[in-house]
Amino acid sequence: MCGIVGYAGKNRAVPYLLEGLEKLEYRGYDSAGIAVAEGGTLRVTKTRGRISNLEALIAAEHQSPATVGIGHTRWATHGKPNDVNAHPHRSMSGRFCVVHNGIIENYLQLKAALQAEGYVFVSETDTEVIAHLLDKSWDGDFVSTVRKTAAQLEGAYAICVLCSDCPDQIVCTRWGSPLVLGVCESGTFIGSDVTAILRHTNDVYYLDGHETALVDAHGAVFFGKDGAAVDKQPRRIEWNLSAAQKGGYEHFMLKEIMEQPKAFSDTVSPRITADGTIAFEDFRLTDDEICRLRRVAVVACGSAYHAGAVGKYVLEKLTRLPVEIDIASEFRYRDPVLDEDTLVVVISQSGETADTLAALRLANERGCKTLCIVNVVSSSIANEGGSVIYTHAGPEIAVATTKAYSAQAAVFYLLAGYLAEKRGLLTKEQLAAYTEDLRAMPDLIQKTLGDCEQQIKTLSQMFIPLEHAYFIGRNLDYACAMEASLKMKEISYIHSEAYAAGELKHGTISLIEKGTLVVALAAYSDVFQKTLSNIKEVKARGARVLAVSTERHVDALGEVDYRILIPDCNPLFSVTLEVLPMQLLGYYTARARGCDIDKPRNLAKSVTVE
Ligand code: AGP
Repeated sequence: MCGIVGYAGKNRAVPYLLEGLEKLEYRGYDSAGIAVAEGGTLRVTKTRGRISNLEALIAAEHQSPATVGIGHTRWATHGKPNDVNAHPHRSMSGRFCVVHNGIIENYLQLKAALQAEGYVFVSETDTEVIAHLLDKSWDGDFVSTVRKTAAQLEGAYAICVLCSDCPDQIVCTRWGSPLVLGVCESGTFIGSDVTAILRHTNDVYYLDGHETALVDAHGAVFFGKDGAAVDKQPRRIEWNLSAAQKGGYEHFMLKEIMEQPKAFSDTVSPRITADGTIAFEDFRLTDDEICRLRRVAVVACGSAYHAGAVGKYVLEKLTRLPVEIDIASEFRYRDPVLDEDTLVVVISQSGETADTLAALRLANERGCKTLCIVNVVSSSIANEGGSVIYTHAGPEIAVATTKAYSAQAAVFYLLAGYLAEKRGLLTKEQLAAYTEDLRAMPDLIQKTLGDCEQQIKTLSQMFIPLEHAYFIGRNLDYACAMEASLKMKEISYIHSEAYAAGELKHGTISLIEKGTLVVALAAYSDVFQKTLSNIKEVKARGARVLAVSTERHVDALGEVDYRILIPDCNPLFSVTLEVLPMQLLGYYTARARGCDIDKPRNLAKSVTVE
């Protein structure tokens, strides 16, 4: 997720562009830049780092009088954060500058075709293909050129374009990523969301998918997908700035829970090829090395470790490689047995967690193959991994992770299918069916969130007075129970425990008494009957049971006191749906208990110390 802004008006553009970027900095902040139309040319100023770096650079370099410009604050997905990869990107002729929010899924094909025609690329980004396509599509009409360019893009994009031949205008268009416009006495404002505009006007135009807008100091003219002019009415926004940054949600955590369909899709879709196989941008193990692998060690902390637990079950199921999972702070000090045929997979949303980084360094020292699953491009862990697979969850602001955890699990689904096919354990046809199931998940995530939110809101009332909560499950359900328990304890401050359901009888069941509330995760079909037995065990001791299961098991859930049903899906992916009501349960319980949800006590978003 990135932030883009634009301004065309009677005043200097630079202050408005910088102000808008500051408001959008929560959307991405590893590099930033602006372009203004000045004296028949397009002047670009951009730099790695936060917007304050850009402001310092502009203060040192120029006080442009230009009244038309665009700007961008970046959350890197393709290409590390640096000056060259920062937006805006300029076309080879210099006629166009473009800023972009989204992921162009067919950029490699477009780039190869443009390079074959002599276009020279200077950055590693997917966005630069847009700049050169504008050159190639130029027909003397600004709007027509942008429309023809956008028609060639696959994936998500919101773009603003400057053209040196039309210095008083901006053209913007979108598909999959948001763009809003506001018109007031000072001029016309463009932003990725209303936070960039609210200080100037509360009346905003939301650009619909495939719509294009021609913007100047007096306002905007809108064109539909077919190119015909459309009459759009502004909408009144009553949010304040803080509410706007949360997209109208009360907390960043709830916003990020609701962003999971997109986080999953953005992580998975660009890696599934047209013929249903899987391709990664930066996975450096050769097929021979993959076949020589003898085991996998998954190492991480907190929720990333819980995502690794999901990965363990899925990887072992499909690749038949033994997979051990370890908490990074244990791994780094237990002198683990490692060798060159071990693949060490480290997982980290921030890419800066000290224990995980130390574990990665240990694995590198021991000559292991290493793979990093990271959300922040060019973070310390990403830079030191042998291979990197980025989650495309976008910036995660809430301390309690949700969308990044789901995106990490999604990477494991991809990795398991990829390695299994390379090791001859999945045919291409089986892999195609597997990736087809993956493609279906974002809609199922959306459905699950829609179906269960109200029910969870009600059920969370039971948890408010609790001192203790228990989450039990087997196999993949146990992996989910670990994450469910952490979500509950870290934001509601209720002591909660995840327990392997089959292990209860070896001690912990002594804690179960009349009225004890037990959450039973029972979605994974392979072990459903066994978990049902464990539900009966705790019921027999007086427990109240809230079960999470799939629609296919509804008739078998007569024993339970409360049930949450999730849609049926490929069983290997069931945690992705099962965890959603658990995230919402932790959220609504904490909310009812008046806890600080986005910034829980004693916790930090990234633990960069031991
Ligand atoms: C989970 O909600 C917490 N924020 C915490 O457990 C987190 O997952 C852990 O600190 C690992 O962080 P990382 O993914 O940035 O390495």
